[in-house]
Amino acid sequence: MITLKSEKQLEGIRASAKILAGLHNQLTLYVKEGLTTGQIDAFCYNYITDNNAVPAFLGYMDYPATACISVNEEVIHGIPGKRVLKEGDIVSIDLGVNLNGYFSDAAQTLIIGSADPEIEKLVSVTKECLAAGIQAAGTGKRISDISRAVFSIADKNGYGVVREYCGHGVGLALHEEPQISNYVSSGSNPRIRPGMVLAIEPMINLGTKNILHMPDGWTVITADRKPSAHWEHSIAVHKDHIEVLTAF
Ligand code: MF3
Ligand code: CO
Repeated sequence: MITLKSEKQLEGIRASAKILAGLHNQLTLYVKEGLTTGQIDAFCYNYITDNNAVPAFLGYMDYPATACISVNEEVIHGIPGKRVLKEGDIVSIDLGVNLNGYFSDAAQTLIIGSADPEIEKLVSVTKECLAAGIQAAGTGKRISDISRAVFSIADKNGYGVVREYCGHGVGLALHEEPQISNYVSSGSNPRIRPGMVLAIEPMINLGTKNILHMPDGWTVITADRKPSAHWEHSIAVHKDHIEVLTAF
């Protein structure tokens, strides 16, 4: 079932998303060469709890950290730890905030210093995929219009679009219906209505679309070990516009 949010619920989700946007904004300044992913995770935990909110991923299906931090060939769900960031790395930081039971979810991919131009392009095109997906999420359109918008930009650039993971409804829980794949698939294809809150999240690979799971039970990597980028926003659909709740 897809829940349409009331104005009161939207206010709660908006407040949650504001904290998350503030954290992502701080991360753009904080994340630097020489930091470990564990240090970044601690920064995120402190920011969220200082704002009287709860890290939504921590403990979710026994996930052991605040952030998912995925470096280079890691696609998503990288567990923060001792890995030290170095010049030329790309690092995807995915975070969820639970404020009084209202959930928001957003990710960005940061470049440490400067990276290979081909990799920098992957990061910016993935961000473009997200923007196109958001643009396609207007009232009256269908979920597949989001999928098509994301996929066409990635595909045009020759990138691999991850099939096994997708975007989702969000707001009263971390993951709600509908699923929002980043490619057009058959199956249910709901119409987009005012009151929907959606997390759109392209996961785009420089090479093959295929992925592998690491023995830690969480980390997803590209099958060819080439880099991958991930951007995500939580949005609210209104009658005549789209509100990017986690914009920063
Ligand atoms: N990052 C995922 C999403 O955007 C959720 C992470 S699940 C967790 O939907 F268990 F890793 F937290
Ligand atoms: Co998400």
